[in-house]
Order: sequence, then structure tokens, then C-alpha cells
Amino acid sequence: MWFSTALISLLATTACAQYDAPLGPDKDGKYEVSADGIRALFIPYGASVSNLFIKGKDGVERDVVLGFDNATAYEGKVHPHLGGVPGRYANRIRNSSFVIDGEEYHIEPNEHNNNNTLHGGPDGWDYRNFTVVSHTKNSITFSIVDPDGKEGFPGEVVSYVTYTMTPNTWKIKIVALATTKKTPIMLTSHTYWNLDGFANPDDPTALNHTFHLPYSGQRVSVDGILIPDGIILPNEKYSVNDFWSAPKQIGANLTAPTLLGNCGTNCTGYDNCYIVNRAQNGPYDWRTSGPVASLSSEWSGIKVDIFSDQEAFQMYSCGGQDGTLPIKSTQGLKGREAFVQQYGCVVMEVQDWIDAINRPEWQREKKQIFGPAGPAYTLEADYVFSTIS
Ligand SMILES: *[C@@H]1O[C@H](CO)[C@@H](O)[C@H](O)[C@H]1NC(C)=O
Ligand SMILES: *[C@@H]1O[C@H](CO)[C@@H](O)[C@H](O)[C@H]1NC(C)=O
Ligand SMILES: *[C@@H]1O[C@H](CO)[C@@H](O)[C@H](O)[C@H]1NC(C)=O
Ligand SMILES: *[C@@H]1O[C@H](CO)[C@@H](O)[C@H](O)[C@H]1NC(C)=O
Ligand SMILES: *[C@@H]1O[C@H](CO)[C@@H](O)[C@H](O)[C@H]1NC(C)=O
Ligand SMILES: *[C@@H]1O[C@H](CO)[C@@H](O)[C@H](O)[C@H]1NC(C)=O
Ligand SMILES: *[C@@H]1O[C@H](CO)[C@@H](O)[C@H](O)[C@H]1NC(C)=O
Repeated sequence: MWFSTALISLLATTACAQYDAPLGPDKDGKYEVSADGIRALFIPYGASVSNLFIKGKDGVERDVVLGFDNATAYEGKVHPHLGGVPGRYANRIRNSSFVIDGEEYHIEPNEHNNNNTLHGGPDGWDYRNFTVVSHTKNSITFSIVDPDGKEGFPGEVVSYVTYTMTPNTWKIKIVALATTKKTPIMLTSHTYWNLDGFANPDDPTALNHTFHLPYSGQRVSVDGILIPDGIILPNEKYSVNDFWSAPKQIGANLTAPTLLGNCGTNCTGYDNCYIVNRAQNGPYDWRTSGPVASLSSEWSGIKVDIFSDQEAFQMYSCGGQDGTLPIKSTQGLKGREAFVQQYGCVVMEVQDWIDAINRPEWQREKKQIFGPAGPAYTLEADYVFSTIS
């Protein structure tokens, strides 16, 4: 029958179009990876996600992550760790030092007048080009070899970062091997989100995004420059850090006096490491036992549920944004400033307890110190997208 022939030819055309998707970089130096309902672009610089396109409840595709229009624009350490993999140790290391087996190591400081190290040092992983080791229509794998002594860290680390798309889902798998000496390893994906793609005409911020951390009744206490002081704090019900008892808008407590100083001295908002506690409920499978975090926007209708094997979750509400960081040409609204406003984004990081290498009493050595004789470092996360009405 004629229509089945037409159908076959239509299917063939579609299949063909899919196989024609460019493998290798496009004209902007970006690598496309996609599946039904999800399409992303990645760059070797930091193994970063630069674009993530998801359809909202109105059927319009929104680019929901921060980044730049082309790979060249990332060069020169000009950006606040947009979408990459900070390494070899994410977040802050107190006094830029740590002890392994009685030996004290001093690494390169790069924050607060050189009082501490942030995201692996001045030349951390997310300021370096990874190598693309494989690229298919729905997956890309990057690798990096971090030499012995780089930024002051002991031993070589070899890492692979694989991003795979399945229908409506972005999967992240990171493996890192300490090949020669014992060293700290703690990684994450440092992605900045705005689930409206900055196109909400009434609100360029993410303050109305609804956030939920169902397993996070506790958080890591920090000092004025966000260095852990060893204390684990309760996120009491209805306090500003209570995202566990019920979902809450990021900006719900913006005027609460206790939100001032919550993200460091004089900072109003969030830049906190929440503990993910769930082993007490019995054995769990991180892929199916519920998300560690969820974020949604009523305006676009886009929701992301984050499933992960990691036992902490950092959330930063972009209080430091000041209208100077540009958004992409795939985002925003005609006639409005194309820059990220204060609270314009939310950074969400699946990771381990921050600076645990300087907190032996937390007993997380097996999660953070890796060597050639032991198992590899691994991180897995699934970001599952859906729409809400
Ligand atoms: C890349 O983007 C930057 C910033 O938007 C722009 O200045 C530059 O011209 C672009 N380069 C290329 C090769 O498109
Ligand atoms: C910080 O490290 C320096 C050496 O780099 C050391 O002299 C100093 O005692 C350390 N400070 C603290 C508070 O641990
Ligand atoms: C950092 O270290 C310097 C000394 O190098 C000190 O003066 C300063 O108060 C410290 N703290 C911050 C937050 O910069
Ligand atoms: C990364 O690769 C690009 C493109 O090959 C190159 O222009 C750039 O200098 C490299 N950057 C770094 C930090 O190595
Ligand atoms: C943001 O949420 C608040 C509280 O639910 C609501 O009053 C306000 O109208 C919302 N703003 C926008 C721009 O949607
Ligand atoms: C924070 O906001 C929630 C939701 O609106 C409210 O129940 C809670 O009382 C607020 N807490 C503070 C400290 O303002
Ligand atoms: C915090 O704000 C107060 C009042 O504006 C100011 O005096 C102080 O210097 C600020 N501290 C820091 C560390 O920025």
C-alpha cells in the first residue's frame, strides 16, 4: 500500500537524519549527544555541558544550563566553573593542606588571599581540556590524565567522564584511578541551572524554582569563608535550610534574618553541603529508591529529579551573580538584558562530604582517599526530566 511505503521512507529519512548528526565538534566546537526528549552539547574544556535542551509544558525547547555560545569563549579561566568537572578535589580544602599516612601535603591555594584551595587549585580540571575518547549519537566519554605533583597533589590520576542520554535522562558516570600514590579524589558535575532558560517574562531569577532534598535533614557547618569547621548541623523543620520536610521555593525564606550569613560572611542565600542520609531506612538502590534532589519550575513546567550514589549534595543559589555573566543566544527574552542576575541560577552538585580529608573524625577516608592498591573512585548520577502542569 502506498502509505506504508511512504511511512517506510519517512522512517528511513528520520533514521538517516539521526545518523547524520555530527560526530565530532560542530562549528562552535561542541559535541552533540541526544535521546528522545533531551539534547545536549558538550565541550572538552572541563568536560563541560554547555547546552541542555528540554521541552517545557508548552512544548517549547528551553536551554536550561549556563554556558557560552562557543568552546573558545571558555578559554582563559574567565568563568565560574560553568558545567564542568572540578578536580581532582571539588569544593574547598582548608589551608590548602591535608595529611595522608602521616605525611603533610601542601597544594596550590587559589581563594581568599590564598587561605584555601577551591576546585582543585588555580589550574583545576575544569580549566583544562579533556580528551574525547568516544562520541556516539547518545554518548560521549572524556578523559584526563592529571600528572603527579600537579597543583601539589600526590600521584597521577587518570579519569573518565561519560555522559549518556536515554529518553528524558542525562546519565553521568565518572571513574578516577590513582595510579601511582595515595591521593584525595572528590568529583562532581558543577552545572548551573535555570529551568526557564531565562525566558520567564516575569522573573529572570531561579528564586521561584521549587527545590526538594528528601534525605537531607543535616548539613556541613562552615566558617565565614565556607570552610567546614567539623560540625554537622541539623536543618530544623521550617528553618531556612529545611528542604527535606517539604519541597520549597529557593527564595521562600529570602527575607528571613537567618538567611544572612548562610552562604558565608555577609552572603544571603545558599552555598551549602547537605548530607544525604538514607541507609537508616534499610538497603536502597540509588537508581530506584527515589531522587536525592528535585528542582522544578512552575513557569516552564520543567522538573528534574536527580538520582545519585553520592552521600552529599551542594546547592548554591547564585547570590554572587551580579549581572555581568552573559547568557547564551539560545536563552533569554528579546528586549531583556542578556546577563545572569543575582539569584538567576542554581548550582546543584552530587558529591561527597566537603573537605572530609581534613576531618578524620568523619571517617570518610574510604570515600575520599584512593591509591593504586585500592578500588577506583566512582560517581554516578541520573538527571531525569519530566513536565509538571
Ligand atoms: C565565541 O563567543 C564569544 C563570546 O560570545 C565571541 O566573542 C566570539 O566571537 C565567538 N567566537 C567564534 C569563533 O564564534
Ligand atoms: C596552614 O599551613 C601552613 C603551612 O602552609 C602551616 O604553617 C599552618 O600552621 C597551617 N595553619 C593551620 C591553621 O592549620
Ligand atoms: C587570609 O590570609 C591572610 C594572610 O595571608 C589574612 O590576612 C586574611 O585575613 C585571611 N582571610 C581571608 C578571608 O582572606
Ligand atoms: C583547549 O583546546 C583548544 C582547541 O584545541 C585550544 O585552543 C586551547 O588552547 C586549549 N586550552 C587549554 C587550556 O589547553
Ligand atoms: C513567585 O512565587 C511567589 C510565591 O509563591 C509568588 O507570590 C510570585 O507571584 C511568584 N512570582 C512569579 C514571577 O511567578
Ligand atoms: C521558610 O519558608 C517556608 C515556606 O514558606 C515557611 O514554612 C518557613 O516558616 C520559612 N522559614 C523561615 C525561617 O522564615
Ligand atoms: C560585612 O558587612 C559589614 C557591614 O556592611 C562590613 O562592615 C564588613 O566589612 C563586611 N565583611 C566582609 C568580610 O565583607
